[in-house]
Amino acid sequence: MRALAIDQGTTSTRALLVDDEGIRQIHAIEHRQFYPAANHVEHDAEELVKNLQACLAAAPEVDCVGLANQGESCLAWDAATGKAITPVIVWQDARTTDICERLKSEGKEALTLSRAGLPLDPYFSGSKLGWILANVPEARGLLAAKRLRLGTTDAFFRDRLTGVFATDPSTASRTSLLNLTTGHWDADLCRLFGVPPEALPEIRPTTGDLGVLPGGRELTASMVDQQAALYGHGARKPGDSKITFGTGAFALCLTGALMSVPGVLPTIAWAESGKRPVYALDGGVYAASSAVNWARQLGLFTRFDDINHFDAAPAITRGLAFVPSLAGLACPHWDRSAKGAWMGLALDTKPIDLAQAVLEGVAFRMLEVMDAMANAAPGSAPIGIDGGMSRNPWFCQFLADVLSRPLRISDEPELTALGCGQLAATGAGGAIERSLSGRLLEPRAVPREWYETFRSARLAVQ
Ligand code: G3P
Repeated sequence: MRALAIDQGTTSTRALLVDDEGIRQIHAIEHRQFYPAANHVEHDAEELVKNLQACLAAAPEVDCVGLANQGESCLAWDAATGKAITPVIVWQDARTTDICERLKSEGKEALTLSRAGLPLDPYFSGSKLGWILANVPEARGLLAAKRLRLGTTDAFFRDRLTGVFATDPSTASRTSLLNLTTGHWDADLCRLFGVPPEALPEIRPTTGDLGVLPGGRELTASMVDQQAALYGHGARKPGDSKITFGTGAFALCLTGALMSVPGVLPTIAWAESGKRPVYALDGGVYAASSAVNWARQLGLFTRFDDINHFDAAPAITRGLAFVPSLAGLACPHWDRSAKGAWMGLALDTKPIDLAQAVLEGVAFRMLEVMDAMANAAPGSAPIGIDGGMSRNPWFCQFLADVLSRPLRISDEPELTALGCGQLAATGAGGAIERSLSGRLLEPRAVPREWYETFRSARLAVQ
């Protein structure tokens, strides 16, 4: 079976052909990032639709199509015209920090935690969709006319491209509007965020007959890109886990049941047609590659090869730590007000030491995430890693060391596309088999004091 996987991510839209033989990218388009005000991060919804259409047009005949979406990013559009009335408010956007803080101070976090499993944080779509209602008069006008549609980007694309206004449980579980126990939109959560439930999409399974795309191709899977990557890593049983290093770094670990763990996000991994939902725990760090790129822009190093190896011992052994909270601290601390910091600077600190500390800081933050997850999902099995930073051998070894876990670095870099294509194939009643080969990296023992040094720096930014 041959699937087309469309990976509509934070920075680009890509089309990849996935079959038993391998994965081949056939089209890729980057889109613009807009930062119109402090804490605002937007995409042009129509630009994304155009890019999706170009990806579909570039694809040859396939048996099925899967769509992977960028998680919590969301928008509003007009049901009558299909046109977006707002930009896409991106998952990184923190314009609703004050709203979340106010709700927290009113003691409302107990409700979001108990129903959606999520803390009050602007990351999730609920407060963003509520912000649209409160700040975009056109949205209120359309609501009165019963023409308002609100949703994550997948629901917008599916409405525009297949005529079906629907989302899937993995994406719905990122909105903070889904009741994880019932699998339906939660009326109290919708009220809390000021989101009219009648404007939200239908929740359909992740796979199956999801609609017909331009060109007559069947859409047979639609899910969050991180969850697709987990499937692509071959995760099928509780304890299987992966970390994807993109703009941010996102760890996901399959759990046998819905679990609640302080600071970590219970989420739906996928809900295949006719099967019970599969649950996972999720923990993200907002700045990973974005921190490394920022360090490069500062001039701390020139070429990415420069940070594939360091002559000096880890910066942390010299008391130098970097906290990569350049966009706040996510899992398990959930503190948007935290800023990034280097601690332990000295007169002999060189730019390359600062760069080394940036890589180490990302690894230490992942340790905090994996430690929080380990309370519910203890594991010793190798963790699959992918994404840009997984190509840096020094970083990978340092990460294995601080996590005290073996890492599996797949030879196949396109794990989101692989999982998306595989799920599309199952949705079409077939299968795509791939046995992943890769390198296993064993951890070396490192002193716990390294983490204690990092932890003091992290506490200082909170
Ligand atoms: O939670 C956000 C995540 O799904 C975005 O992933 O790959 O589009 O940066 P990516």
